[in-house]
Amino acid sequence: MVLVTGLPEHGAFQLYTLIEADRAAILPEHLSFTQGVILPLAIGASTSALFSQKHGQVMPGVSTPLLGLPYPSFDRSLASSERLLVIYGGSSTVGLTTTQLATASGITVLTIAGSHNFSISQQCGATQVFDHKDPLVVEKTAEAILKSGLDFIGILDTIAIPETYETNLRILDKVGGGHLICSHPPPKQAPINVKVSMIYAVNDAEIPLFNNYVTGALQTGKLKCLPEPIVVGRGLKYIQDALKKLESGVSAGKVVVEL
Ligand SMILES: NC(=O)c1ccc[n+]([C@@H]2O[C@H](COP(=O)([O-])OP(=O)(O)OC[C@H]3O[C@@H](n4cnc5c(N)ncnc54)[C@H](OP(=O)(O)O)[C@@H]3O)[C@@H](O)[C@H]2O)c1
Repeated sequence: MVLVTGLPEHGAFQLYTLIEADRAAILPEHLSFTQGVILPLAIGASTSALFSQKHGQVMPGVSTPLLGLPYPSFDRSLASSERLLVIYGGSSTVGLTTTQLATASGITVLTIAGSHNFSISQQCGATQVFDHKDPLVVEKTAEAILKSGLDFIGILDTIAIPETYETNLRILDKVGGGHLICSHPPPKQAPINVKVSMIYAVNDAEIPLFNNYVTGALQTGKLKCLPEPIVVGRGLKYIQDALKKLESGVSAGKVVVEL
């Protein structure tokens, strides 16, 4: 929230943070705050990517996604949708959370992640995972999209750096275009059949999800706090160590400082 309001009481690095009730969930007894803290920002990023129905701008000329996909439901009779989403960065926190929320809405998810992280991505619902270091990742992903026979939505790029844009634009080229939803400002040049957008984690599309889904899904285990926390220490003095840990690179883990 501090991103939008600028008010210190909405920020992190303090024992108690103010949050609107519509953007909060009740943690069940079996989950600690150290685990629960994994989700809020990733949920905001995921809802921006998947469910938003309102046009918005992150910065001049850069729109937020407008997919308006159906929200997850506890209704077991929910028919599977005919749609397919690819998530690049499948083992990132945003990737794992979006995989869980999209599959809970009936969307088929393929991901691209490190080969050592296939199982965590599948645990969150991905039906197929491709190795981002595989020289044939573009060909293999495009082939899987075309073979699926499903209505292809596009690619959520949670890493969003020049190399990943290049890979994702090549995949989109092979399958005839689609959305490229980025976690950072999108590439400046994209072909006409590629619709680029950038997620913004503070958005109102998360409100129905928090009101109707998150608490129940945490209780039943349908929504998991993944990746696992990597606790660096307890106290504000560990923030710098945590930043160093992040800088050194973290694979399928969320750096947490307990207070
Ligand atoms: N726009 C917004 O509102 C918003 C909101 C939230 C987050 N974000 C941004 O979204 C990004 C993801 O955030 P997060 O918290 O989900 O990150 P994270 O959990 O720290 O992501 C870690 C994962 O990134 C993967 N990775 C790192 N470098 C990679 C590369 N060069 N190619 C492919 N995969 C790579 C690793 O995958 P493997 O180990 O499997 O290789 C690792 O598991 C961050 O840049 C963050 O700033 C934006």
